[in-house]
Amino acid sequence: MPRIIVIANQKGGVGKTTTVANLGIALTKLGYQVALIDLDPQGALTVTFGLDPYTIKPSIYDALVANDYPLDGVLKTIQPSAQIAPANTELIAAEYRLLKEPDRTFRLKNSIARGMQSFDYILIDTPPSLGLLTINALVCAHELLIPVATDYLAMRGVRALMESVWFIRERINPELRLLGLVPTLYRKDSAHANTVVSELRKVFKQRVTRTFIPQDDAASAAPAARKSVLDYQPAAPTALAYLQLAQEVDHVRQPNTR
Ligand SMILES: Nc1ncnc2c1ncn2[C@@H]1O[C@H](COP(=O)(O)OP(=O)(O)O)[C@@H](O)[C@H]1O
Ligand SMILES: [Mg+2]
Repeated sequence: MPRIIVIANQKGGVGKTTTVANLGIALTKLGYQVALIDLDPQGALTVTFGLDPYTIKPSIYDALVANDYPLDGVLKTIQPSAQIAPANTELIAAEYRLLKEPDRTFRLKNSIARGMQSFDYILIDTPPSLGLLTINALVCAHELLIPVATDYLAMRGVRALMESVWFIRERINPELRLLGLVPTLYRKDSAHANTVVSELRKVFKQRVTRTFIPQDDAASAAPAARKSVLDYQPAAPTALAYLQLAQEVDHVRQPNTR
C-alpha cells in the first residue's frame, strides 16, 4: 500500500509545489517508487518537470472529471522511479463541472484506488484554496504535510487549515493524520523567522519537523531548468534539506505516534 501524502496550505507561495517536487525526488533517492499528482490548475508542478499544462493530454482532469479514468492511465514518467499525473489548465473548470456530482469529493480517491498499488509514496500538490480539488486530496490522503513560510505571519492561515482538517476527519476521512508542519523559506539569521518557528513549536510541538527548508536561490532556479533541485544542484542547501526531510518522513511509520 502506498503512503498517500497531501501537501496543503491555502496560502500561496509557501513552498507547496517546491516541496512536492523535491521531497518526491528525494524519496526516489532513498529507493522508493514515487507518484506526484498535480491538483493545481496553475500546473506549476507539471511545468517543473518539463510538461506543458496548456497542451498535456491526458491529465489529472481526465481522471477526475471524465468518469472511470484510472489514475495510472494519465501518468507520465519523469525518472525511472518517479511519475507525474500532470495538470492541464482545463482543471480550472473541474470544480464547476463536479458541483452536482454526488461523488464529487471522492473522485481522486476512486481513481487512485485503481492501478497505483506499485508505488511506495504518492504526493499530492494542491492549489492555494480549500475548494473541491483540495478536499479531494484531503479525502484520499493518509497524511497531511503543511509547509509554513517562516518569512511571514504564518499562524492564522495554519489555524484555518487545521479547522478544515478536523472537519474532514470527523465527517469524511477519519484516517487523515497530521504528518507535520515543515518550516520553509527559512533564514536562520532572521530574528523574525526564528520567532515564527518558536510560535509554531509552542502550538504544534513535535509536529513541527526537525528539518527546516532554507531560503535558497537554487530552489527557485531549478524549475527553470525543468529539474528538481536535487538533480539541478545536488549540493545546494535545499537539496540537502529535502533529502533530510525525506528521511524524516520515511522514519515516521507508526500511525498513532503524532
Ligand atoms: N526554499 C526556497 N528557497 C527559495 N525560493 C523558494 C523556496 N521554496 C520555494 N521557493 C520559491 O518561492 C515561490 C513559491 O514557491 P511554491 O513552491 O511555488 O509555493 P506554493 O506552491 O505554496 O505556491 C516559487 O517561485 C519558488 O521557486
Ligand atoms: Mg503551488
